[in-house]
Amino acid sequence: MPVSAVIQADIKNIYNNLKAELSAIEGSKWLISGGAGFLGGYFLDLLHYCNENVFKKPCTVFCIENFISGTPTRIQHLEGNKHFRVIRADIVKSIDLAGPFDYIVHAASIASPSFYRKYPLQTIETNVLGLKNLLELGKGENLKGFLFFSTSEIYGDPSPQFIPTPEHYNGNVSCTGPRACYDESKRLGETLAVFYHREYGLPVKTVRPFNIYGPGLKLDDKRVIPDFFSDALSKRKITVLSNGLPTRSFCYVSDAVTGFFKALLCRYDGEAFNVGNDDLEISIETLATIIAELVGGVEIEFSKSSEADYLTDNPQRRCPDLTKARSLLNYQPEINLATGLTRTLAWYKEVY
Ligand SMILES: NC(=O)c1ccc[n+]([C@@H]2O[C@H](COP(=O)([O-])OP(=O)(O)OC[C@H]3O[C@@H](n4cnc5c(N)ncnc54)[C@H](O)[C@@H]3O)[C@@H](O)[C@H]2O)c1
Repeated sequence: MPVSAVIQADIKNIYNNLKAELSAIEGSKWLISGGAGFLGGYFLDLLHYCNENVFKKPCTVFCIENFISGTPTRIQHLEGNKHFRVIRADIVKSIDLAGPFDYIVHAASIASPSFYRKYPLQTIETNVLGLKNLLELGKGENLKGFLFFSTSEIYGDPSPQFIPTPEHYNGNVSCTGPRACYDESKRLGETLAVFYHREYGLPVKTVRPFNIYGPGLKLDDKRVIPDFFSDALSKRKITVLSNGLPTRSFCYVSDAVTGFFKALLCRYDGEAFNVGNDDLEISIETLATIIAELVGGVEIEFSKSSEADYLTDNPQRRCPDLTKARSLLNYQPEINLATGLTRTLAWYKEVY
């Protein structure tokens, strides 16, 4: 299956954003967990693009996937490529792989709230034990960079004076609520990552993505943007499963992936960076209205989720403070919501 045209255009855009940084990775060896997922898929595609179009010496990429939420079709176009090896395995189990690796990326997780509430223990294990397995692989092996995907959810439900939320905000998180399996295990993951840096000198960077969306986010993912598109494209009313007032700041995937690579390849070992878009903080009701207008001929209704815990501990507001990423990484998101949603819709039409 050829890779989608919309994703290909995104990859070129990411490459152009990162030209200077990417020369450093030519010929390197990578281990990426969760490579068939939404964000991990973009990592594989960018490395594939560099191998095909830029590098004289290609990168070698090992991807570990258990396909608990990712699908093989997302990375089918890499099948048979001698520089990519997809290993169907659970990152929580012991990993028997020949290192050393130059770069290790832990993108595996169960990231959609409806799914992590369904698989709470697997979520904790992947975020903590899976991470520890990868950190161990990076020890003493001349690793150049390790990227841990944390989340903006580690901030929980910030009080208003911490919106936009900077990295030094310590969070307001329940340790036993239905979202705790995700939020708290990402917090412990950050602690593990930072101590592997302090104790063993691992060049670990942590990113905290804020509501990333775009091509690759499957219609049945159950995060809010695919949920709304799923309704709209089936010509159902878009169902808002709250009073519509909570706010989010959405970041298009090509901006986010640019930020993730900038973090991985920077010299600030042991640091955590917000990655998102602070251009617009909008209510969920406004988001539904925008998607309804974009698809056309769709109405909005308010309802209650059949999932009892759907709104428990749901953060009221989300907006990143990007000062640190801007000043240390020269990160600058560029794609506004209208453009990003139009590209996302184009992908849904291409693939579904
Ligand atoms: N997309 C976002 O907006 C967002 C926001 C905050 C944080 N994150 C974090 O970024 C990372 C990537 O997110 P995503 O949106 O691509 O998620 P995703 O669910 O699309 O992809 C995760 C991938 O990991 C795989 N996986 C899960 N557990 C595994 C295991 N034990 N072993 C091997 N593979 C496993 C899944 O099959 C899936 O393909 C995750 O760590 C997530 O928590 C994402």
